[in-house]
Amino acid sequence: MGIKHYDCGPQNIHSAKRIFKLDTQNTSYIMAVVDNDNFLGHVYYGSKLKDYDVAYLLRTNEAPFVPSQNERDRSSFMDSFPAEYPGHGVGDCRDGCIGVLSQGGHRGVNLSVVSHKIYDGKPELTGLPATFGRQRECTTLEIECADAALGMEVTLLYTVFENVDAVTRSVHIKNASRQDIYLTKVLSACLDMDNKDFDRMTLHGSWARERHIQRQKIGYGKYAVSSLRGEPGHQEHPFMALMTEETTQDVGEVYAVHFVYSGNFIVQEEVNQFDSVRLTVGINPDDFCWKLAPEECFQAPEAVLTYSENGIGGMTRTFHDLYRNHLIRGEYRDKKRPVLINNWEATYFDFNTDKLIAIAKQATGLGIEMLVMDDGWFGNRDSDNRALGDWQVNEEKIKGGLNFLVEEVNKLGMKFGIWFEPEMISPDSDLYRSHPDWAIAIPGRKASLARNQLVLDLTRKEVRDYVYECVAKILRSANIEYVKWDMNRPLSDIGSVSLPADRQGEIYHRYVLALYELQDRLVKEFPYLLLENCSGGGARFDPGMLYYSPQIWCSDDTDAVERLAIQEGTALIYPLSTMGAHVSDCPNHTVGRTTPFETRGYVALTGTFGYELDVTKIAQEERNMIPEQISMYHKYNDLIRCGDYYRIASYGENHLYDCYEVVSKDKKEALVTYIQVLNCPNYHSRRIYLKGLDPHMKYRIEGEKEAYYGDTLMKAGFQTEKLWGDFKGRLYHLKAIL
Ligand code: GLA
Repeated sequence: MGIKHYDCGPQNIHSAKRIFKLDTQNTSYIMAVVDNDNFLGHVYYGSKLKDYDVAYLLRTNEAPFVPSQNERDRSSFMDSFPAEYPGHGVGDCRDGCIGVLSQGGHRGVNLSVVSHKIYDGKPELTGLPATFGRQRECTTLEIECADAALGMEVTLLYTVFENVDAVTRSVHIKNASRQDIYLTKVLSACLDMDNKDFDRMTLHGSWARERHIQRQKIGYGKYAVSSLRGEPGHQEHPFMALMTEETTQDVGEVYAVHFVYSGNFIVQEEVNQFDSVRLTVGINPDDFCWKLAPEECFQAPEAVLTYSENGIGGMTRTFHDLYRNHLIRGEYRDKKRPVLINNWEATYFDFNTDKLIAIAKQATGLGIEMLVMDDGWFGNRDSDNRALGDWQVNEEKIKGGLNFLVEEVNKLGMKFGIWFEPEMISPDSDLYRSHPDWAIAIPGRKASLARNQLVLDLTRKEVRDYVYECVAKILRSANIEYVKWDMNRPLSDIGSVSLPADRQGEIYHRYVLALYELQDRLVKEFPYLLLENCSGGGARFDPGMLYYSPQIWCSDDTDAVERLAIQEGTALIYPLSTMGAHVSDCPNHTVGRTTPFETRGYVALTGTFGYELDVTKIAQEERNMIPEQISMYHKYNDLIRCGDYYRIASYGENHLYDCYEVVSKDKKEALVTYIQVLNCPNYHSRRIYLKGLDPHMKYRIEGEKEAYYGDTLMKAGFQTEKLWGDFKGRLYHLKAIL
């Protein structure tokens, strides 16, 4: 396991024997250094191989192919070589990974391998979120490359998590020349491989409709998902999987990439004339131009690669394990989160101390553990058109002050949480009146508003410090144990008065680095805080944010039916423990649908669980269900948070019902969530096939007498109860009997 470098004797320029083999438990990733120019080729990624020397796949034995034997056709070589980190403008006409503008105005860049090193563990990526692992858990390979003409050093970093079938990649660039180099593109990873007639899976959406799964056949040309919104956005997701046509949840090959970054991204696949496919991922090069002065460095964010031969489900469980164990940090990473009640849909801006305390009083009696005060507690923020930036408690609403409110809530036996939107500024705010230049804008142009607000220029240190102190001061002033960090508009109209003209192209990325710096400060000063990120629902649900907050608000759409698709797409990659999910009131505030309170509970139990309603106003019979729902949360949350997730059926595909299952790692317990969205006439009950159980263990379904072997439940199936009506659900809890 781990990484091996096979250097087979003296350098033989005609054969590719300088090989790197990266092995995990079930996969191998193989690269080779070839020819006089030491090109780094991608040889193989897939299920684990015993052989290491499979560099014949690079066709370097075909004499006319390599430049050292056929300089006349160097360009043909470059344009078809499966490059590990392709350059630009020197023969390879496909989209590459790196782009430059040299002092001479030239764009060409191409890399040769210089040296390498292999070591245990994994280095941090300065200023960036990244997966981590102890020395025994992972091994890192650094391949040092150079472009001699530019005087640029490029280090390709690979880390192998031996027990999780994942390889992470990133890139570090140094300007070792005496002149400025402008980086116009720095992607983080590339997979250049044969197109096995792949399908492509991506996630798409909109506000309140995030991360819907799309699967399509790939074809010649390029297809990209991307963002230019300064955040991943509701619309696209920095993820792509290529899978063989026959791949299902349980069988078939899947190659997936996911980007650990919270800003502009691109994930692209390009099928070329030779039927090979180049899958690339990184910071979106549009509007990106980074000036690298001599001796300066640039660190690209991390990309995660995984290969599964056990279908989509295999991919999903790899991402879940990797993120739970090697990305999420802090106090709450392995802990049950307090059941919260958030007042947003309950009151919107119309609340005060009395109202909040009334909600808390009812809530605590029902077993709810934390009150979260959402938007509207500061400045004169009575609607969404003002006061962002004025983070002083509005004591007309919060009578007696914040500390008084928090103490009252604490006295009721509840924790207290608070909402912030620190990155924003309303034109109608004291902050804007005193610092209009703190907003991101293009000089001479009226900056475009979104939700009546502008974005603060976090690239400036004084702005970052102001923002941080606003948040920290409030947190220091009372016993606040949770923060919802929101961001309700994308970036646009990019301009910063503090940067020179030739650094304006750095703003998007500098903004993301600034955000990371702020959240890093926050979790360091308040290590026991439960931080939940949010962006108009789930526009910044990405692995980068998970490094700072163990959970992210999934979507502003809390309708139980809409949530099925949103949570299915989210859980495709993200552990269930990260998905902010609440029971809200009906008719639902986003779609107007009425679903049973029970069903809303089953769906929210899949995520972090909480309430988003005025508990003093809902029907008594619904209120009565809350203690039961909370006891289910306490009973099942360890399993949901830590278990293996299996998708059994998708409402998005069958248009009738949804079904998923979580199985404990020791396979002694499982929870099946079954939601019948639409009833259909004349069927007795529905048979589903459970997954992931131990075929040799016997399981009893809670409330039933009989017990069945795992293989019966998986192969012969399991009969769900007949449910009368639409939007009905059931949880089935299985326990192994001795
Ligand atoms: C965003 C969030 C909501 C709520 C509002 C408050 O839309 O996603 O949950 O906090 O902002 O303005």
